[in-house]
Amino acid sequence: MNIVSLFCGIRSRLLWVSACVLLASPVFSAELKTSKEKALTVQANLGYATVLPGHKGAVATVQPLATEAAVNAFAKGGNAIDAALAAAFTLGVVDSHNSGIGGGLFIVARLANGKVIAIDGREMAPAKAHRDMFLRDGKASKALSKTGALAVGIPGSVQALYELQQKGGALTFDQVLMPAAKLAEAGFPIDNTLANRLARTADKMQPFEATKKIFFDKKGQPLQAGTVLKQPDLARSYRSLAKHGPNWFYRGEFAKQTAQWMARNGGIIDANDFARYHTVHREPVHSRFMGYDVYGFGPPSSGGAHIAQMLNMLDGLPIGTMTDAERYHWLIEVMKRAFADRAHWLGDADFVPVPKGLIGADYAKTLRKTIHPSNASETQKITHGMPPKAASDFFYKQLNKHTTHLTTADAKGNWVAITTTLNTSFGSKVVVPGTGVLLNNQMDDFVAAPGVPNAFGLVGGEANSIAPFKRPLSSMSPTLVLKNNQPVMTLGAAGGPTIITQVLQGLVNYLALNKPLEQALDTPRVHHQWQPDWVFTELPLEGKTAKALDAKGHKLRKAGDFGGTQAIVLKNGQFEAVTEPRIIRRNQKPIIKVN
Ligand code: GLY
Repeated sequence: MNIVSLFCGIRSRLLWVSACVLLASPVFSAELKTSKEKALTVQANLGYATVLPGHKGAVATVQPLATEAAVNAFAKGGNAIDAALAAAFTLGVVDSHNSGIGGGLFIVARLANGKVIAIDGREMAPAKAHRDMFLRDGKASKALSKTGALAVGIPGSVQALYELQQKGGALTFDQVLMPAAKLAEAGFPIDNTLANRLARTADKMQPFEATKKIFFDKKGQPLQAGTVLKQPDLARSYRSLAKHGPNWFYRGEFAKQTAQWMARNGGIIDANDFARYHTVHREPVHSRFMGYDVYGFGPPSSGGAHIAQMLNMLDGLPIGTMTDAERYHWLIEVMKRAFADRAHWLGDADFVPVPKGLIGADYAKTLRKTIHPSNASETQKITHGMPPKAASDFFYKQLNKHTTHLTTADAKGNWVAITTTLNTSFGSKVVVPGTGVLLNNQMDDFVAAPGVPNAFGLVGGEANSIAPFKRPLSSMSPTLVLKNNQPVMTLGAAGGPTIITQVLQGLVNYLALNKPLEQALDTPRVHHQWQPDWVFTELPLEGKTAKALDAKGHKLRKAGDFGGTQAIVLKNGQFEAVTEPRIIRRNQKPIIKVN
């Protein structure tokens, strides 16, 4: 019996979920004060995040079946690289609204030989893409960049995962893929997260017959939590990929079938686009914070650059002795400045000049001088110029939550951080008939027109305009922290632009405040992205802290949970792995309907 089934009885997961409901209660205080509360969150992580016996390895994902796949890969003699691949392919089956082989990803990994690598598997725009492709009658069409054929970028996950395994995996591609193929065939009970996303996205999925065939019941209703979801087409696709490798995807049957569907449905991706897809092995973004070396992902991710920029601004401040309100004030102010720069400067650095000076210590000092220690600054005074419709209507009560992060580590020194996505829930909503593969809508991460916000309310400039084979700007931020060349922490998150600010706060809470890892993630977070001029808060930034921030001039908006962070740390030779406690609490609500 493997370690996950030992703890959780994974095949009788519903039973386990019910047991956890009895044990767990929502933890809504700013700090987890009592030992009972701490015990509950640790309990909650069983099954989602796990450490192997003897601290031989660790895994954290958002779905126990993906964590189990990673643990099984370790059991077969695999290392953290194999475990990460097994988890990633399994997430494409059980968490397919967030990620899958129809999407893209960034990988930051530390190999056993000490080398830190960054593999860019972000989608690329097809050859026929052009700057104004989403303009209709001079106005940006929000629907076209998000749903259907035009929203799809050329997927990069398959090639990037394959290349990661070539870098030091101990198993074969077939060995890490086949368990996911079998799971797709056998089926699994839909969890609350997937069921909720299905319910919320169902209307946009309606036009796509092959998508409905998978995710809707015979009465045309989206499948509910507890229903066993079987995906025979996806299983066949995984088997073909296992047998033929990435060629099947980029130069073989998958590319051909997708191109045919695109041609019939107003899309522009063709088989040549698939053949021209390539990953980029990039230099990780490096910064220093409190004596730690922090490695992140550079452009086309904005995450690594802006996390480095914000850490630079915070480095040297007495963060550990500040009140909560003082600390949040500094966090909000550095976020405003970083996101103002993001909107102006950031894009695919292979196409536009993105200044390296953004992550320089001197630049951070200059920016820090503009921060008043107690008063909120006006965002208009930070910017390069306020684009029209600045405080637009994009953020409603909830921030959009998409994407997923998984992480693994082993005792040999392999550490893997993968953030992967289809972009918004179920991507473009398109499943190419017969493949079972959901395709991304990453084209929406480009700027459709200056000043027009994307699905996450993010505005951008010319640097992130559309061009053939360019990669859309991302917030995905897989991050690795070393001290004296030894890994001490890895983390990453889901949740659009809050990915950047979640990772920042995970780093600050763990490295600067010395909070236990679970608390570091569970502490309520703030998010400011320059425009709109609001501080989004996770429940419950209330009471004294909220009043103090209000008095400083910050405009607080409750936003529910931001998304989800997964992290692994190594302290005194002991791994600790944690999955976002908020995700687990959400999934612990009882599942009523079971087939
Ligand atoms: N699609 C969300 C991101 O890459 O930031």
